[in-house]
This record gives sequence, C-alpha cells and structure tokens, in this order.
Amino acid sequence: MTAPVATPFSTQIREASHQQHTEAENSSFMSDLLGGGLGVEAFRLYTEQLWFVYRALEAPTAQLAADPVAGPFVRPELARVAELERDLDHMHGSAAWRDEVRPLPATAAYAERITETATGWTGGYVAHHYTRYLGDLSGGQVIRSIAEKTWGFEPKGDGVRFYVFEGIGNPAAFKREYRTLLDAVPGDDAERLRIVEECKRAFSLNSAVFQDLGAATSR
Ligand code: HEM
Repeated sequence: MTAPVATPFSTQIREASHQQHTEAENSSFMSDLLGGGLGVEAFRLYTEQLWFVYRALEAPTAQLAADPVAGPFVRPELARVAELERDLDHMHGSAAWRDEVRPLPATAAYAERITETATGWTGGYVAHHYTRYLGDLSGGQVIRSIAEKTWGFEPKGDGVRFYVFEGIGNPAAFKREYRTLLDAVPGDDAERLRIVEECKRAFSLNSAVFQDLGAATSR
C-alpha cells in the first residue's frame, strides 16, 4: 500500500484563499479603478495605503532575517518601500506627502496586524508576506499595465515602480522557488492551519482597505 501523498503547503494556502482572491479582485474599488472609472487621485490614494502596509512588512526585516520561520522569505529584491516612495514623489510632485498622508482606518488595522505577527508569531508574518508579495508578482503585473494605459505613466516608470521587480529577472522561477520555501515552513499540521487562517485574515484585511478606499473615493 502506498501512503497518501500530503498536499504541499503552497497548494493548501493557494486553494484556501482562492475564493477570497476572487472577491478581492472583483471588489468594487478594484473594478472601478481598473475599469477606468476613477481618476489618478484614487490610484495615488491606493498607493499611499500600500506605503503604510509595506512599511509594516519591511520595517522588521533586519530582525526577521535570522528567524528560522520567516528568515528564508526575507529577500532584498522584494523590498517595495523605496519604489512606493519614488512613485508617490512622482504622483505628488514633491516629497512633502510624507508629512501629509494618513492611513485609512482599515489600513491602520492591517499594518498593526502585520507588526503584531512580525514581533509575536513569525508564522503569521509569513502568511502576510505570501499574501502581498506573491500577489504583486502575479496580478500586480495586470494592475501595472492598466495603470500605465489609464493614467499615462511611463512603462515601468515613476508611478508604477512598485509593480516592477528590477532584481527578479524571471518571476515564474522566483514564484516556484517561493512555493518551495512555503512547502518547507517548519511546523506541524496545526501550525500550518493557523498560517492558512492568517492568510485568509490577510485577504480580509485587504478587502477592508478596498472598502475604505471605495468610500473615500466616492465622496
Ligand atoms: C485586480 C486585482 C488582482 C488581479 C488582476 C490579480 C490577479 C492574479 C493572478 C492572474 C494570479 C495568478 C498568477 C499565477 O498563477 O502565477 C494571482 C495570484 C495571486 N494573487 Fe492576485 N490579483 C489581484 C488582486 C490580489 C489581491 C488584492 C491580493 C491580496 C492582497 C492578491 C494576492 C494574490 C496571491 C497571494 C497570489 C498567488 C497565489 C499562488 O499562486 O499561491 N491578488 N493574482
């Protein structure tokens, strides 16, 4: 008799979040934004919110690099804060935005949860890392090309640098390697289940940001 083959963790996490992915993709803010129904100010506001999220993701990376669970995921070529800052400098026309922008309530809650996992439960941090960076390497490319066409940004230039991973020549290969890291995350079944649940929470937190953005841009 052959033993049943366990589903790889990377497959488990993708399948468990599939429905929420569809919901996030089809949220009315995303549909309006990518359907050309909103001005560049909405894209700028969205980029501002991402800045708060990625600061929370990337501020703790120096400490996390040595962590046995999160450490392997910390890769300098993924870092997005500098790119977001260039995009926002461009969209605002100066660097003054740094003192002016504020997180929407859902963004503040999302960033807070990321920080909580980074400091208290690094398996949870991996869930947040996966939800953002693997998404950016995938659907992010769709968003970039629409943003370039809709608001006239230079291809892969200022405004959409967030979506351009200069240090990743082959995104498909990078994603394959990333999934191998996911499959090797230490922990028993219960811990893996907790990480999957945290990934679902990460998707919900993203949907809440879209809701806040929808409300903020329809006023
Ligand atoms: C309009 C918005 C979006 C589009 C068009 C989109 C599109 C896509 C596509 C085409 C893939 C599959 C890539 C592949 O098979 O390699 C993907 C994967 C992914 N997306 Fe999205 N996405 C969007 C929004 C989001 C959001 C809001 C999140 C979460 C914050 C997200 C997280 C992910 C993740 C984690 C994956 C990787 C799944 C895996 O292979 O494990 N996406 N997305």
